[in-house]
Amino acid sequence: MSNANDGTVNQKRQAGEAAIRYVEDGAIVGVGTGSTVAYFIDALADLKHRIQGAVSSSEQSTAQLKRLGIPVLDLNSAGPLTIYIDGADECDPCKRLIKGGGAALTREKIVAAASEKFVCIIDSSKQVDLLGKFPVPIEVIPMARSLVGREIVKRGGQPVWRDGVVTDNGNWIIDVHGWRIADPAALESELNQLPGIVTVGLFARRPADVVLIGGQLMA
Ligand code: 5RP
Repeated sequence: MSNANDGTVNQKRQAGEAAIRYVEDGAIVGVGTGSTVAYFIDALADLKHRIQGAVSSSEQSTAQLKRLGIPVLDLNSAGPLTIYIDGADECDPCKRLIKGGGAALTREKIVAAASEKFVCIIDSSKQVDLLGKFPVPIEVIPMARSLVGREIVKRGGQPVWRDGVVTDNGNWIIDVHGWRIADPAALESELNQLPGIVTVGLFARRPADVVLIGGQLMA
Protein backbone atom coordinates (compact mmCIF):
# COMPACT_ATOMS: atom_id res chain seq x y z
CA MET A 1 0.00 0.00 0.00
CA SER A 2 1.41 3.44 -0.91
CA ASN A 3 1.03 6.57 1.22
CA ALA A 4 1.84 10.29 1.14
CA ASN A 5 5.30 9.61 2.50
CA ASP A 6 6.08 7.40 -0.53
CA GLY A 7 5.14 10.37 -2.73
CA THR A 8 7.54 12.64 -0.87
CA VAL A 9 10.37 10.12 -1.10
CA ASN A 10 9.72 9.69 -4.84
CA GLN A 11 9.82 13.44 -5.39
CA LYS A 12 13.08 13.74 -3.46
CA ARG A 13 14.61 11.02 -5.62
CA GLN A 14 13.27 12.60 -8.84
CA ALA A 15 14.63 16.02 -7.84
CA GLY A 16 18.03 14.58 -6.92
CA GLU A 17 18.27 12.73 -10.22
CA ALA A 18 16.97 15.68 -12.30
CA ALA A 19 19.69 17.95 -10.88
CA ILE A 20 22.32 15.87 -12.69
CA ARG A 21 21.47 17.71 -15.92
CA TYR A 22 23.08 20.86 -14.43
CA VAL A 23 26.46 19.15 -13.92
CA GLU A 24 28.89 19.94 -16.72
CA ASP A 25 31.88 17.85 -17.71
CA GLY A 26 35.02 18.81 -15.80
CA ALA A 27 33.09 20.64 -13.06
CA ILE A 28 33.80 20.83 -9.37
CA VAL A 29 30.32 20.41 -7.91
CA GLY A 30 29.16 22.09 -4.71
CA VAL A 31 27.15 19.53 -2.76
CA GLY A 32 24.63 20.29 0.00
CA THR A 33 23.25 18.08 2.74
CA GLY A 34 20.12 16.05 3.47
CA SER A 35 17.97 13.19 2.27
CA THR A 36 17.22 14.82 -1.12
CA VAL A 37 20.89 15.57 -1.74
CA ALA A 38 21.69 11.95 -0.88
CA TYR A 39 19.80 10.93 -4.06
CA PHE A 40 21.79 13.52 -6.02
CA ILE A 41 25.08 12.14 -4.69
CA ASP A 42 24.02 8.60 -5.67
CA ALA A 43 23.32 9.83 -9.21
CA LEU A 44 26.57 11.85 -9.29
CA ALA A 45 28.53 8.67 -8.63
CA ASP A 46 27.56 7.46 -12.13
CA LEU A 47 29.32 10.55 -13.59
CA LYS A 48 32.30 10.59 -11.30
CA HIS A 49 34.80 10.03 -14.11
CA ARG A 50 33.47 13.14 -15.90
CA ILE A 51 33.90 15.61 -13.02
CA GLN A 52 36.92 16.84 -11.08
CA GLY A 53 35.21 16.25 -7.76
CA ALA A 54 32.94 17.85 -5.20
CA VAL A 55 33.11 20.48 -2.46
CA SER A 56 31.00 19.21 0.41
CA SER A 57 28.87 21.16 2.89
CA SER A 58 28.92 18.60 5.73
CA GLU A 59 30.66 15.62 7.23
CA GLN A 60 27.55 13.59 6.34
CA SER A 61 27.78 14.38 2.62
CA THR A 62 31.56 14.01 2.67
CA ALA A 63 31.19 10.45 4.00
CA GLN A 64 28.73 9.53 1.23
CA LEU A 65 30.83 11.16 -1.50
CA LYS A 66 33.96 9.34 -0.36
CA ARG A 67 32.14 6.03 0.01
CA LEU A 68 31.07 6.34 -3.65
CA GLY A 69 34.58 7.23 -4.82
CA ILE A 70 33.90 10.90 -5.61
CA PRO A 71 36.94 13.08 -4.78
CA VAL A 72 36.17 15.65 -2.07
CA LEU A 73 38.05 18.92 -2.59
CA ASP A 74 38.79 21.84 -0.30
CA LEU A 75 36.91 25.02 -1.19
CA ASN A 76 40.03 27.15 -0.72
CA SER A 77 41.83 25.29 -3.49
CA ALA A 78 38.78 24.71 -5.67
CA GLY A 79 38.12 28.44 -6.23
CA PRO A 80 34.75 29.69 -7.53
CA LEU A 81 32.34 26.86 -8.35
CA THR A 82 29.98 26.83 -11.30
CA ILE A 83 27.23 24.86 -9.59
CA TYR A 84 25.81 24.13 -6.13
CA ILE A 85 23.08 21.55 -5.55
CA ASP A 86 21.22 21.51 -2.24
CA GLY A 87 17.84 20.87 -0.63
CA ALA A 88 15.74 23.15 1.58
CA ASP A 89 13.20 23.07 4.38
CA GLU A 90 10.98 25.78 2.83
CA CYS A 91 10.95 27.63 -0.49
CA ASP A 92 8.83 30.69 -1.36
CA PRO A 93 7.77 31.82 -4.86
CA CYS A 94 10.89 34.08 -5.09
CA LYS A 95 13.14 31.03 -4.47
CA ARG A 96 14.06 32.33 -1.02
CA LEU A 97 14.68 29.49 1.39
CA ILE A 98 14.79 28.28 4.95
CA LYS A 99 17.63 25.82 5.41
CA GLY A 100 19.43 24.17 8.28
CA GLY A 101 17.04 21.41 9.30
CA GLY A 102 20.10 19.15 9.13
CA ALA A 103 22.27 21.69 11.02
CA ALA A 104 24.62 22.15 8.05
CA LEU A 105 23.55 25.73 7.25
CA THR A 106 26.89 27.48 7.74
CA ARG A 107 28.90 25.43 5.28
CA GLU A 108 25.86 25.35 2.98
CA LYS A 109 25.74 29.15 2.92
CA ILE A 110 29.47 29.34 2.27
CA VAL A 111 29.38 26.90 -0.66
CA ALA A 112 26.24 28.57 -2.06
CA ALA A 113 28.01 31.96 -1.91
CA ALA A 114 31.02 30.52 -3.74
CA SER A 115 28.87 29.16 -6.57
CA GLU A 116 27.65 30.80 -9.74
CA LYS A 117 24.39 28.83 -9.88
CA PHE A 118 22.43 27.39 -6.92
CA VAL A 119 20.04 24.60 -7.92
CA CYS A 120 17.66 23.79 -5.07
CA ILE A 121 16.04 20.34 -5.05
CA ILE A 122 12.85 19.84 -3.04
CA ASP A 123 9.61 17.90 -2.84
CA SER A 124 6.34 19.81 -3.10
CA SER A 125 5.75 19.82 0.69
CA LYS A 126 8.52 22.43 0.96
CA GLN A 127 6.69 25.04 -1.14
CA VAL A 128 5.16 27.92 0.85
CA ASP A 129 3.76 31.36 0.12
CA LEU A 130 5.37 32.89 3.22
CA LEU A 131 8.51 31.60 4.94
CA GLY A 132 8.38 30.77 8.65
CA LYS A 133 6.11 27.83 9.30
CA PHE A 134 9.28 25.72 9.46
CA PRO A 135 11.28 27.05 12.45
CA VAL A 136 14.25 29.15 11.30
CA PRO A 137 17.54 27.46 12.32
CA ILE A 138 20.26 29.77 13.62
CA GLU A 139 23.80 28.54 14.34
CA VAL A 140 25.25 30.26 17.41
CA ILE A 141 28.51 30.32 19.31
CA PRO A 142 27.63 28.26 22.44
CA MET A 143 28.33 31.05 24.98
CA ALA A 144 25.92 33.36 23.12
CA ARG A 145 22.92 31.01 23.18
CA SER A 146 20.92 32.93 25.82
CA LEU A 147 21.97 36.35 24.51
CA VAL A 148 20.77 35.44 21.03
CA GLY A 149 17.62 33.86 22.48
CA ARG A 150 16.69 37.14 24.19
CA GLU A 151 17.26 39.07 20.97
CA ILE A 152 14.95 36.69 19.14
CA VAL A 153 12.20 37.10 21.74
CA LYS A 154 12.48 40.91 21.29
CA ARG A 155 11.76 40.30 17.62
CA GLY A 156 8.64 38.20 18.30
CA GLY A 157 10.18 34.73 17.84
CA GLN A 158 10.19 31.75 20.19
CA PRO A 159 13.72 30.33 20.38
CA VAL A 160 14.11 26.61 21.04
CA TRP A 161 17.60 25.22 21.64
CA ARG A 162 18.22 22.04 19.58
CA ASP A 163 19.57 20.34 22.67
CA GLY A 164 22.25 17.71 22.05
CA VAL A 165 23.10 18.88 18.52
CA VAL A 166 26.62 20.16 17.87
CA THR A 167 27.30 21.42 14.35
CA ASP A 168 30.27 20.37 12.21
CA ASN A 169 31.82 23.70 13.33
CA GLY A 170 31.42 22.95 17.06
CA ASN A 171 28.48 25.34 17.54
CA TRP A 172 24.85 25.05 18.64
CA ILE A 173 21.52 25.51 16.86
CA ILE A 174 18.53 27.59 17.95
CA ASP A 175 15.27 26.94 16.05
CA VAL A 176 13.01 29.99 15.93
CA HIS A 177 9.28 29.30 15.95
CA GLY A 178 6.43 31.71 15.37
CA TRP A 179 7.82 34.00 12.70
CA ARG A 180 5.84 34.73 9.54
CA ILE A 181 8.50 36.41 7.47
CA ALA A 182 7.27 39.16 5.15
CA ASP A 183 10.77 40.45 4.29
CA PRO A 184 13.25 37.57 4.65
CA ALA A 185 16.25 39.49 3.24
CA ALA A 186 15.77 42.32 5.77
CA LEU A 187 15.45 39.85 8.66
CA GLU A 188 18.50 37.91 7.47
CA SER A 189 20.55 41.15 7.31
CA GLU A 190 19.36 42.28 10.74
CA LEU A 191 20.13 38.94 12.42
CA ASN A 192 23.53 38.79 10.70
CA GLN A 193 24.53 41.83 12.80
CA LEU A 194 23.90 40.20 16.20
CA PRO A 195 27.01 39.12 18.10
CA GLY A 196 27.12 35.36 18.63
CA ILE A 197 25.15 34.44 15.52
CA VAL A 198 27.29 32.48 13.10
CA THR A 199 24.71 31.83 10.39
CA VAL A 200 20.99 32.47 9.90
CA GLY A 201 19.12 29.72 8.06
CA LEU A 202 17.41 32.25 5.79
CA PHE A 203 18.76 32.09 2.25
CA ALA A 204 17.10 35.25 0.95
CA ARG A 205 19.95 37.64 0.19
CA ARG A 206 21.32 34.88 -2.01
CA PRO A 207 18.26 32.81 -2.99
CA ALA A 208 18.29 29.76 -5.24
CA ASP A 209 18.65 30.40 -8.97
CA VAL A 210 16.78 27.29 -10.04
CA VAL A 211 14.31 25.16 -8.05
CA LEU A 212 13.40 21.60 -9.00
CA ILE A 213 10.25 20.26 -7.36
CA GLY A 214 10.44 16.55 -7.93
CA GLY A 215 11.60 16.44 -11.55
CA GLN A 216 9.80 19.69 -12.49
CA LEU A 217 11.28 23.16 -12.88
CA MET A 218 9.62 25.80 -10.69
CA ALA A 219 8.67 28.92 -12.68
C1 5RP B 1 20.46 20.70 5.90
C2 5RP B 1 19.47 21.35 5.01
C3 5RP B 1 18.68 20.45 4.10
O1 5RP B 1 18.87 20.87 2.80
C4 5RP B 1 17.21 20.54 4.46
O2 5RP B 1 17.07 20.22 5.84
C5 5RP B 1 16.36 19.61 3.61
O3 5RP B 1 16.64 18.28 3.93
P1 5RP B 1 15.90 17.06 3.23
O4 5RP B 1 16.34 17.02 1.81
O5 5RP B 1 16.36 15.86 4.04
O6 5RP B 1 14.40 17.26 3.38
O7 5RP B 1 19.30 22.53 4.97
O8 5RP B 1 21.04 21.62 6.79
